[in-house]
Amino acid sequence: MASETAKYIHGHHESVLRSHSWRTAENSAAHLLPYLKSDHVILDIGCGPGTITADLAAIAHEGHVTGVDYAAGVLAEAAAAAAERGLTNTRFQEADVHDLAFADDSFDIVHAHQVLQHVGDPVQALREMRRVTRPGGLIAVRDSDYAAFTWFPESRGLTHWLDLYETVARAGGGEPDAGRRLKSWALRAGFPEAAIEATSSTWTFSDEADRIWWGDLWAERSLHSDFAEQALEGGHATREDLEAIAEAWKAWGRGEESWLMIPHGELLCRA
Ligand SMILES: C[S@@+](CC[C@H](N)C(=O)[O-])C[C@H]1O[C@@H](n2cnc3c(N)ncnc32)[C@H](O)[C@@H]1O
Repeated sequence: MASETAKYIHGHHESVLRSHSWRTAENSAAHLLPYLKSDHVILDIGCGPGTITADLAAIAHEGHVTGVDYAAGVLAEAAAAAAERGLTNTRFQEADVHDLAFADDSFDIVHAHQVLQHVGDPVQALREMRRVTRPGGLIAVRDSDYAAFTWFPESRGLTHWLDLYETVARAGGGEPDAGRRLKSWALRAGFPEAAIEATSSTWTFSDEADRIWWGDLWAERSLHSDFAEQALEGGHATREDLEAIAEAWKAWGRGEESWLMIPHGELLCRA
């Protein structure tokens, strides 16, 4: 079991932020959207560069959104994303999901996208998310499930990437196959089954611009992000391995037949 002190394995290299900044509430939090109201008070945990946070703030325009992340460095980026859109109902601060410095029952909605897969104790994280949600409010999470990623055509390089990713993520204290585990974590955190709605949704990269964007992004992440550093430092891969993986991602992106599906588990839990 991962420890509470998991290391966030991606870091915030430009190639990582490029991927996270593509995210919107529509492509990453669609399960939550039907429940959002214009006056909601929302907490977005692990907000990263804050593009989803800004979308939530635009919807809750009479309410307020607090974005938190345990990496202080990325918060300026999130604040800039909100300012660029003219949003005045956001604030950003440093916080660790395991121990949130907010009073009980502070928020209508507590959201975390692709965060629980990176934390040391996702059950404690969900308990803490529940504590700060008002009774009747919603906790919304969504996490990918790496072992269930599916692509075409077969590629030894991408298979190697997936094996390596799972190894590096677990060595860092996280759980890369989080999507399938979310419901069990919520039950262990004390939510009754009737209070949990567990669904799934996918991202698919297929048309030319999308697959080249994704393939080149992961080529760069495989060579230059914290993931690469940890693969090398942990002795899980050599520089040559990473170069071969990067080439495989670039080649995959340029194949007309190439297709990639990224599945996510989702939860809506009623507090
Ligand atoms: C994959 S990124 C997701 C960012 C954003 N939610 C999105 O989907 O665009 C995960 C984020 O969670 C943050 N994070 C990781 N562990 C955390 C923790 N224990 N408490 C708060 N934030 C954490 C990381 O710093 C990173 O910004």
